[in-house]
Parts: sequence; structure tokens; C-alpha cells
Amino acid sequence: MTSIPSQAAPALAIRADAEVVENRSEGGANHRLRLRVQGWPGSTPGQFVMLSPGSVGEVRRDDPLLPRPMAVYREHPAAGGAAEVEILYRVEGRGTALLTESAPGEAIRIVGPLGQPFPLAAAAARCLVVGGGTGVASLYGLVEALAAESRPEVLLGARSADDLMAHDDFAALGRPLVVTTEDGSLGETGLVTAPLERALARGDVDTVYSCGPTPMMRACAELAAAAGVRCFVSLENNMACGFGACLGCAAPRPAGDYALVCRDGPVFEASEIAWDGLP
Ligand SMILES: Cc1cc2nc3c(=O)[nH]c(=O)nc-3n(C[C@H](O)[C@H](O)[C@H](O)COP(=O)(O)OP(=O)(O)OC[C@H]3O[C@@H](n4cnc5c(N)ncnc54)[C@H](O)[C@@H]3O)c2cc1C
Ligand code: FES
Repeated sequence: MTSIPSQAAPALAIRADAEVVENRSEGGANHRLRLRVQGWPGSTPGQFVMLSPGSVGEVRRDDPLLPRPMAVYREHPAAGGAAEVEILYRVEGRGTALLTESAPGEAIRIVGPLGQPFPLAAAAARCLVVGGGTGVASLYGLVEALAAESRPEVLLGARSADDLMAHDDFAALGRPLVVTTEDGSLGETGLVTAPLERALARGDVDTVYSCGPTPMMRACAELAAAAGVRCFVSLENNMACGFGACLGCAAPRPAGDYALVCRDGPVFEASEIAWDGLP
């Protein structure tokens, strides 16, 4: 197993009203949101933000009250010392439906970057990055960062071609990419764990990274453990505060205590999680 080198500590979070630059449908329920954020300190792959569920108006909205966690998909420098932070989101319920109504020029409250990032595998390591559902949005920056030094292969799964987030962006990274859809509308028919099993059977993989629905991450963790390969997961538990104050995101650990997904995660080594206790 290749060791994981230590990384610089993540930047301190800021709270800001970010300007919506673009907010468009990408087909199906998926949307791409670009925000201009003054004073953005930069994030590390795996970190997330808490977004107000819709624009900040002259009359403050308190229903829904709670912000929603979203991965930083990618970020770029912007004019005037600001940064552009890109978010990919899927409409799931009321908060994300309200987010679709935010128009360019309006403001969205953002807190971040938050959470612990993915540890990067050592140079020349052979990594598998496995994404499913909205978890795909947490993995783009990781593949970019890994590709600079090691040899990541990307496995992406979705229910259908319409559901798959960011396929063209991942393809443009030029890394080996396998796509699975449950209805066969793109790539292989079936679950993303099938190409994962095949890749692990080769015996040359050092590290698995995974983000997606809990049953998918659990299956990745079990397949990696059976192959003797280290596995990191990024949990997508519901969150209310995002910084360790409400205890609403607790995830059970094998020792019987709890980790806070927002503060101790969302990235964990898979063996740190008691999977039976997760919702
Ligand atoms: C670290 C992390 C990163 C994520 N990244 C992404 C991403 O990049 N893209 C993406 O599409 N999704 C991402 N998700 C999932 C995303 O946060 C959820 O899909 C989103 O919160 C759904 O919000 P909603 O309001 O549309 O859905 P809802 O189902 O209406 O609400 C979501 C949850 O918020 C809580 N909630 C809502 N209203 C209340 C209330 N009044 N009181 C108490 N609790 C309430 C509930 O627990 C509810 O289940 C991420 C999740 C995490 C934890
Ligand atoms: S979301 Fe409040 S403690 Fe984690």
C-alpha cells in the first residue's frame, strides 16, 4: 500500500453574500451554479460550502431556514480579487428547487470552505475514483489534483444519461473513464460497482476514493477491504449548520462513538464508519 503524504491545513471559512453569475439547467434535474465570491480563501478537493436555499432578498427568507451543503465543484480566480466558485446540484427537495430560481446578479449566502479534504495518494499511485449521483460533484477537483502526480481512473454511475453529472468535464480531463447507467442509456448497463470489481481484480490499485449514495459507498468500502486496498469515502449526510454546532450530522464509528460529518469529515477512511448505523 502506498503511503498518503501529509497536506497543508485547509483555509479558514468565510461567510459572504456571493453574486450569482450563472445558474442553468444541465438537463434532467441537474443544474450548474457559478458564484462570484469576494475574499474566497480557496478550497481543497473534498471540501464543501453551506448555501442559502435561494437568493438573499430585501425581505429575509426564513422558510426554509437552513442552508444546504454543496461540494465545491471547481473554482477559478475572477476579476477584482474575487473567485468564481462552481457548484453542480440536483433538485431533490424544496431548498434546491428554490436555488434554481436564483438569477444572475442576485445574491446567495455562502459559508465555506468547510470540512476535511481528501488525502491525496502519493505520486505514481494507482487510484480509482468512484462517483454516483450527486457525489460526482465532490470528485472533479480530486481527479484534477491526482492527475498531476498519479494515475487516477474514473468510474461514474447514474440511473440514466440525464442523471449523470458533468460527464463532458470528466471526459475532458483525459483520464481513463468508465460510465455505467442503470437503464443502459449511456455506457455499461448496471451499477458502478461492476467496473470497480473488475479494476480491483487486476491487483494494481493502491487507493479507492468514493462519493455517492450510502449503499454505493458501503459497497465500494467492502470491495476495497476485500481486496486489501485503502478506501476513502465522502459522506453526504443531511446537515443543518455545517460547522459542528448542531450535532445533526453525526455518523457512528465502530468504537460506538460518533463523528461529525461536517467537522471531522465529510471525507473519512471507510473503516472509520460503522456502516450499519448510517441512515
Ligand atoms: C458534504 C456534502 C456535499 C454535498 N454536495 C452536493 C453537491 O455538490 N451537489 C448536490 O446536488 N448535492 C450535494 N449534497 C446533497 C445536498 O446537500 C442535498 O441534496 C440537499 O441538501 C437537498 O436539499 P433540498 O432542500 O432540496 O431537499 P430536502 O429533502 O427538502 O432537504 C434536505 C434535508 O434538509 C433537512 N431539512 C430541510 N428542511 C428542514 C427543516 N425545516 N428543519 C430541519 N431540517 C430540514 C432535512 O434533513 C432534509 O432531509 C451534498 C451533501 C453533503 C453533506
Ligand atoms: S451539521 Fe451541525 S454539527 Fe454537523
